[in-house]
Amino acid sequence: MRSATPTVPPHERIVVALDVPTLGEAERLAAQLRGAVGWYKIGLEVFAAHGPAAVTAIRAHGPVFLDVKLHDIPTTVERAAARIADLGVGLVTVHAGGGGPMVEAAVRGLGQGGEVLAVTVLTSTSDEELAAIGLGPAAVQVPQLARLATRAGAPGLVCAPRDLAAVRQAVGPGVRLVTPGVRPAGAGTDDHARAATPGQAVADGADLLVVGRPITRADDPRAAAEAIASSLG
Ligand code: C5P
Repeated sequence: MRSATPTVPPHERIVVALDVPTLGEAERLAAQLRGAVGWYKIGLEVFAAHGPAAVTAIRAHGPVFLDVKLHDIPTTVERAAARIADLGVGLVTVHAGGGGPMVEAAVRGLGQGGEVLAVTVLTSTSDEELAAIGLGPAAVQVPQLARLATRAGAPGLVCAPRDLAAVRQAVGPGVRLVTPGVRPAGAGTDDHARAATPGQAVADGADLLVVGRPITRADDPRAAAEAIASSLG
């Protein structure tokens, strides 16, 4: 499967998830990892605690991926996306399940201020839960939402390692695919039911690999990131 970015230097494919309790800790990690990873992911926990200041602090070390998974009426999403664009982020997540007009609104609001990544079905949602809310199984929902989001202008998608091949097939080669649940060969899987190695994820079509604990909890986070990059050749 072809990725959208076949020739980028391996370390630029790594998105480190800065899921740590304090901004100070996130900044220390960001400084340590400068140049060894491509992106810093700020999630809801850090953003809820520190807001735009977190983006400003981390952005000093490299590109920021703001993982806030917007999902609201299109006008609200467009206005929020425009404020996020002012922060100087590179990537921002929205829920594809918000519908085509909402994804279009996010793309419009962000403008040149970043790229929208659409999340299809959260991997924490089982097929039973999808049925309970009147939706078909993930195997049907994921490619359908992927197509909907890319038709609405989303340049990228977030999907689980196991969905990479089906999503790549659904949307073609030009869309940036980002996958979490990545674990170096021989490492534990933490709470991921089905983890993939970095090499497998890239072979399956991933452009960016979200890796948190294997880097952030390593004795030497920079060495851990460098080992992942070198495993990608
Ligand atoms: O520490 P770890 O590598 O498991 O971190 C993965 C990151 O990706 C976390 O920020 C987590 O919230 C996010 N994520 C995930 N699984 C999903 C969606 C997002 O692990 N299905």
